Amino acid sequence: MHEAQAHAGRVVAGALQLMKTLTEQGERNTLELNNAAEKYMFERDVYPSCKGYEPAWNSSRVYQYGTCISVNHEIGHGPPSSDKMLVDGDVVKFDIVGSHQGWHVDAAITVAIGEISERNVALLKLTEQALTLGIEQAVVGNTVGHITRTIAKFALDNQLGIVAGLNGHGIGQDIHELPNIPNSGLGSTEPLKAGQTICIEPMFTLGSGDNRLLQDGWTIVTLDGSCAAHFEHTVCVGENPLILTTESGIITP
Ligand code: MF3
Ligand code: CO
Repeated sequence: MHEAQAHAGRVVAGALQLMKTLTEQGERNTLELNNAAEKYMFERDVYPSCKGYEPAWNSSRVYQYGTCISVNHEIGHGPPSSDKMLVDGDVVKFDIVGSHQGWHVDAAITVAIGEISERNVALLKLTEQALTLGIEQAVVGNTVGHITRTIAKFALDNQLGIVAGLNGHGIGQDIHELPNIPNSGLGSTEPLKAGQTICIEPMFTLGSGDNRLLQDGWTIVTLDGSCAAHFEHTVCVGENPLILTTESGIITP
């Protein structure tokens, strides 16, 4: 872990909470929320790393925003838009990468707008719980597979779909570094190393985990239209795992 990531972690967590709070104060479109989050980060010397990012998996496309905001059956990478008004009953995923002095962190939360269905409430609670269980495995002596299998088993035990093809990942001076940290399958035998920073990010659905890319070239949606949830933290591996992306500073779950 680099010291700069601790600062970026607090600020990214604060920006996620700011967007959540704004949705509680009245109707918002997703571009307003993005702009507030970007401003919050810039004021604290954290760059919203997705802004201007050209992902390896999206040849020659440049992402224009500091946040990804994805609603209901949208799983992730949703570009904010002034046409996208959040309304009562929506399930919204906020995902932010931020960097300080070139060092990145990545975090995501899923938020209910007003009243959401009981099944959606359960989906959110269980996905967040899977993240906590996964983080508890991020200790020296374990492998990447311990995280994968813990998250995968929890989804299966709770009859939730696991989003296929989207993984957690290492993070540092690049947004996406090795190792890959899948949420399904048998898991790899790659040992976790002390001081390594990784993103753990269960993405579950109320249906199947199959998904497709929308025409916009960014937004990933469930194939069956089922609702998706996503929670993510950046974690430093150690004797105890350290969560970097909390507003109060580094914590152990
Ligand atoms: N947190 C997202 C990820 O790990 C970041 C996406 S950046 C974007 O995939 F440019 F694709 F939006
Ligand atoms: Co993310």
